Amino acid sequence: MLIIYCFLFYTIRTATARDTLNLGQSIRDGETLVSANESFELGFFSPGKSKSRYLGIWYKKIGNGTVIWVANRDAPLSDRSGALNISSQGNGTLILLNSTNGIVWSSNASRTRNPVAVLLESGNLVVKDGKDIDPDNFLWQSFDYPSHILLAGMKLGVNLVTGLNRFISSWKSTDDPAQDDYVYGIDPSGVPQAVFRKGSTIRYRAGSWNGLHWTGMPQLQPNPVYTFEYVSNENEVFYRFNLIKSSVPSMMVMNPLGDPQRLTWMEQTQKWAPFVPFSGLILDQCDNYALCGAYAVCNMNSNSAKCECLEGFVPKSPSEWDLLDKSDGCVRRTQLDCEHGDGFLKRESVKLPDTRFSLVDNKISLLECKELCSKNCSCTAYANADVRGGGSGCLLWFHDLIDMKELSESGQDLFVRMAASELDDIERKKPKKKKKVAIVITSVLLVTGVILLGGFVYLWKRRHRKQGKTDGSSKLDYNDRGNREEEMELPIFDWMAIANATENFSDKNKLGEGGFGPVYKGVLIEGQEIAVKRLSKSSGQGMEEFENEVLLIAKLQHRNLVKLIGCCTQRDERMLIYEYLPNKSLNDFIFDVTRSKFLDWSKRCQIIGGIARGLLYLHQDSRLRIIHRDLKASNVLLDNEMNPKISDFGMARAFGIDQTEANTNRVVGTYGYMPPEYAIDGLFSVKSDVFSFGVLVLEIVCGKRNRGFYHADHHHNLLGHAWRLWIEERPVELINKSLGGSYSLSEVLRCIQVGLLCVQQRPEDRPNMSSVVLMLSGERSLPQPKQPGFFTERNPPESGSSSSKRSLLSTNEITISLIEGR
Ligand SMILES: *[C@@H]1O[C@H](CO)[C@@H](O)[C@H](O)[C@H]1NC(C)=O
Ligand SMILES: *[C@@H]1O[C@H](CO)[C@@H](O)[C@H](O)[C@H]1NC(C)=O
Ligand SMILES: *[C@@H]1O[C@H](CO)[C@@H](O)[C@H](O)[C@H]1NC(C)=O
Ligand SMILES: *[C@@H]1O[C@H](CO)[C@@H](O)[C@H](O)[C@H]1NC(C)=O
Ligand SMILES: *[C@@H]1O[C@H](CO)[C@@H](O)[C@H](O)[C@H]1NC(C)=O
Ligand SMILES: *[C@@H]1O[C@H](CO)[C@@H](O)[C@H](O)[C@H]1NC(C)=O
Ligand SMILES: *[C@@H]1O[C@H](CO)[C@@H](O)[C@H](O)[C@H]1NC(C)=O
Repeated sequence: MLIIYCFLFYTIRTATARDTLNLGQSIRDGETLVSANESFELGFFSPGKSKSRYLGIWYKKIGNGTVIWVANRDAPLSDRSGALNISSQGNGTLILLNSTNGIVWSSNASRTRNPVAVLLESGNLVVKDGKDIDPDNFLWQSFDYPSHILLAGMKLGVNLVTGLNRFISSWKSTDDPAQDDYVYGIDPSGVPQAVFRKGSTIRYRAGSWNGLHWTGMPQLQPNPVYTFEYVSNENEVFYRFNLIKSSVPSMMVMNPLGDPQRLTWMEQTQKWAPFVPFSGLILDQCDNYALCGAYAVCNMNSNSAKCECLEGFVPKSPSEWDLLDKSDGCVRRTQLDCEHGDGFLKRESVKLPDTRFSLVDNKISLLECKELCSKNCSCTAYANADVRGGGSGCLLWFHDLIDMKELSESGQDLFVRMAASELDDIERKKPKKKKKVAIVITSVLLVTGVILLGGFVYLWKRRHRKQGKTDGSSKLDYNDRGNREEEMELPIFDWMAIANATENFSDKNKLGEGGFGPVYKGVLIEGQEIAVKRLSKSSGQGMEEFENEVLLIAKLQHRNLVKLIGCCTQRDERMLIYEYLPNKSLNDFIFDVTRSKFLDWSKRCQIIGGIARGLLYLHQDSRLRIIHRDLKASNVLLDNEMNPKISDFGMARAFGIDQTEANTNRVVGTYGYMPPEYAIDGLFSVKSDVFSFGVLVLEIVCGKRNRGFYHADHHHNLLGHAWRLWIEERPVELINKSLGGSYSLSEVLRCIQVGLLCVQQRPEDRPNMSSVVLMLSGERSLPQPKQPGFFTERNPPESGSSSSKRSLLSTNEITISLIEGR
């Protein structure tokens, strides 16, 4: 949940807004300081429902006065008689006085005879010597005492000389800015790490810096909104970000719920919004500190956390390990024997363990690191300190290895100390080359056996099925359509559990409405987030057919398809439960002026490729040959790494009871993405999806919707526009301005050409998805496209059938589903 601090103020503007407070002047309640370009304002305010008065700084132009800093957060003023003075006793301290001139809050002494306080455009309130020629020589600055927000330019970290530690901490509530328990900052002990705590308990550890990002926060990536840096030397350790374009404000907020996240100002909606994929710190269960205990790696497997001991280690208390409490962790199978020499075993792709008791040496190589570690009997592991340029530097651990997480692509290699005998054992267990033949033969025999057995069981089950209904177990067995070996179980959710998770299908939780019914967001009791598709009851399909259909869909697994995690068929309802992807859909990115900047060309290319592979899988590689029929930008969801995931697949098949492979009288789809032969004649085939894919590709390149596309020169839609520019040999003009100049022209042109090939009028001219994938990879030469279908949308083609109830005039993006008049 998103809680931002928005408050109303009774700010009485002084006649001339000023940004400087001089000696002998004061700011009373009602007066303010305003930064030079009016971005920030300093004055008194009351948060939320509170009556207390606080001195603070807030955004002036945007965000309804989002407060970014509070001076007297732990010492509220009870009335409106507060005043901010610069201490006249010649020491330049800022003092906040109450009605009886008692000092409620003060800045640290600045020791100057000519103090001035200035509110800078960055939101920093500084005290400096008015006679100092250096404008950046601050004697005191509010940036050194952050409240709950980290702004661009602020340092998060420790000054090792003065001991000043700058961290952000939550408010007690939206009505009370007093410092609460949630704190995010840098822990300088051992090798410095970014840590999020509640009180003294660590909740999440982003880890040490590996040259590119925190080891446990690979989502911190170069992006179009801000740059970031990490500095660590003998004087200080800090992290800082800076805005690339000061026109897109962005900040890190610790809200009272203890949910640290990055918010960025959205011009369109006039709101602060989390900017995935770079917004959240805590992405999944495995990010909970030390969830698996020592010497264990946490692995996010199908939405739930799994703990697994490092090789050579076993669960410390096996009985608890099987239950959920794994915090006991793992212990060595074989004790170390330092005298007689230990070795090291490499564990790949992990978030490196806690470095609070570690040492680092940035100058030595991995080989020297190994040497160093093996010489010291209390050294438990080593790794590269910096991953840049193939890796360098040396990190050493001397304690239990705690809080590791599997990070498939962005993790690091960790070398764990092992007894030599254990290493031998592990080596011996690995399959040797000589044994390979034997293993292959055994496997062949085994598989044959299983198939025979499977066939037998299948026949047996089939015979028995005819006699009775399935038992009332809560799992569905996949044993209907063939191989027993492939039996799978799809969780069936209880209706009440889903109703609870979605707060009784409340509108608040509604994510959207598709052609098959509304979709809700929900949170299961265990905390897992889900998306629930509640299918409308109009489908005449029987429950049993539905379940079978769902079982088939559940078997579809591809990294570019959204994962189905269960279904619910109680109370005459059909619901499908999917993994929830917080990142919204492609629709929210490509057509949004601000967010589209997050999608540079290489990301877009990757997304186009991903959608193509997902679709190819549906069309050809999966056993079902599913035609999606409603591919569109809002049905392509993006995960944290901006990988596209097609949603809503299989629904077409699951729902058309009276359709054939070639014709349907139930047209489901979205105008703007439907090919002519489908919208008009209800004819669909894989080539209808190819058409929709082509539209999507052009939309991604162009950043504009096909439907509702407007151009001053003509009445064509996006397809017509693209076609026109193509034949006039000016396709470059199609390219989205958000891309700037950073793209490979040949790649973009190839995509445009593929897009146009996919939207050709005649289905038989359109390539199939396997050709598309090859074309996109540049492995196939491209033919010249012919005229696209539906390129003038302003003259919707008539269907010719007077009984048709179709209307091509609906302009919104929602999926429609029309039953033709019979
Ligand atoms: C604060 O400043 C005002 C003038 O603006 C002055 O009258 C008052 O005495 C000052 N208070 C203290 C404690 O310096
Ligand atoms: C204020 O805005 C003007 C014009 O946009 C700019 O030239 C100037 O540098 C800005 N000043 C500060 C302090 O940001
Ligand atoms: C912003 O403040 C105005 C009143 O000043 C209020 O009417 C409006 O609802 C506020 N908007 C938001 C998004 O809080
Ligand atoms: C600065 O002045 C204030 C009162 O104006 C006083 O309370 C404080 O002790 C002084 N600080 C130093 C370091 O002299
Ligand atoms: C003003 O502040 C002083 C020192 O914090 C305190 O002793 C005094 O009671 C306060 N006066 C009022 C009216 O709050
Ligand atoms: C500055 O003030 C803070 C409290 O506001 C205090 O903890 C710290 O010791 C002070 N530092 C110096 C150098 O006076
Ligand atoms: C091993 O390293 C630890 C941590 O640096 C150190 O305290 C200890 O003295 C070292 N032991 C030996 C034998 O060098």
